[in-house]
Amino acid sequence: MPRPADTPPHVLPPTPACTDADDVTVAQTAGPYFTPNTPERASLLEASTAGTRLTLTGRVVSTRCQPVQRALLDFWQADDKGEYDNRGFRLRGHQFSDAQGSFTLETIVPGFYPGRTRHIHVKVQAPNRPVLTSQLYFPGEAGNARDGIFNQKLLMKVQDGPAGVKLATFDFVLAL
Ligand SMILES: [Fe+2]
Repeated sequence: MPRPADTPPHVLPPTPACTDADDVTVAQTAGPYFTPNTPERASLLEASTAGTRLTLTGRVVSTRCQPVQRALLDFWQADDKGEYDNRGFRLRGHQFSDAQGSFTLETIVPGFYPGRTRHIHVKVQAPNRPVLTSQLYFPGEAGNARDGIFNQKLLMKVQDGPAGVKLATFDFVLAL
């Protein structure tokens, strides 16, 4: 069946939901660079944003595979040179999952900085529930094995999309 004309070509079809649903997403340290009160935005891309574009899609679900609607997803990451913006909100933003628990983040592939492999920070929170703080990782990175915080359960699936955009997927499973 042809793709409906209004489907953005850069978005991957949803991954099969909940194959691992009893596996609650692992929590990790927020690290030193979290900033509260980020802008609400699904795209962290600004006119000045350099680097390889990355589109991350996924769902927030409960351990019973129920979609979590209006879950808060707050992402922050380094720029392509491995630097965080600790004064403003560059490469920081929050959004809410939709009725299917789905979200899409438009950003860039973060650079790495000394001592860490490539990663994206995230806080995920179902309405009126505790915050899950974690990090997402990239497959095939030489630095993964050398990073003491790295956890392979937090690997995104990443593939090459059109126009040099990397397409990543990750589903968050909350202990609900
Ligand atoms: Fe970090």
